[in-house]
Amino acid sequence: NVSPRKPRNELLLKALVIGDYGVGKTAIVRRYTEGKFSSNYKITIGADFAFKSIDWDHQTKVNLQLWDIAGHERFGYMTRVYYKQAAAAALVFDVNRVDTFKSLKKWLLDLREKVQQPDGSNIPVILLANKSDIQQAAVTTDQIVKFCKENEIDQYFLCSAKENTNIEEALHFMVAEVLNSK
Ligand code: GTP
Ligand code: MG
Repeated sequence: NVSPRKPRNELLLKALVIGDYGVGKTAIVRRYTEGKFSSNYKITIGADFAFKSIDWDHQTKVNLQLWDIAGHERFGYMTRVYYKQAAAAALVFDVNRVDTFKSLKKWLLDLREKVQQPDGSNIPVILLANKSDIQQAAVTTDQIVKFCKENEIDQYFLCSAKENTNIEEALHFMVAEVLNSK
């Protein structure tokens, strides 16, 4: 079968992964891009990058560029540089650590202050409640739903990088939101 190849749309999409240190940002990115998980904690310094090519549909290929920002960067002057031209963000917290949930607001304010779409509107943000495999959830679903409503977050996902729960689904949703808004 040698039918000529259809012309393809190829999109480059930059997305940020942000949230407190140790919540599992690097683990999520690694799970999604490499299909691997390690229980060793190796702190991210500055930012890491990962790529994934997605055959979105017959005409569209998405080259997703994930910027995995160090949790320790929240008050760092570098975030403005890292956030530049991001099309979407995944905001991550550890569902077993209340302090990481409380920090979300600051991450979000920092993000929205520093990055907007060309028309001035906010970029799409999804919320990832990670480490759902640990059975001590300190943050309730009600609290998460309320936070999303109050902060115009489109969707939250209870997920686990360790057990590969909801990671693919969440990032797929994030990409779909960007494509639908184009
Ligand atoms: P910084 O780079 O410091 O900002 O942290 P991070 O958000 O990138 O955290 P990282 O992905 O390095 O994960 C921190 C620790 O949590 C590591 O020991 C991971 O193995 C562990 N971890 C990450 N995701 C999960 C998960 O879904 N479940 C469990 N049980 N542990 C996880
Ligand atoms: Mg990291």
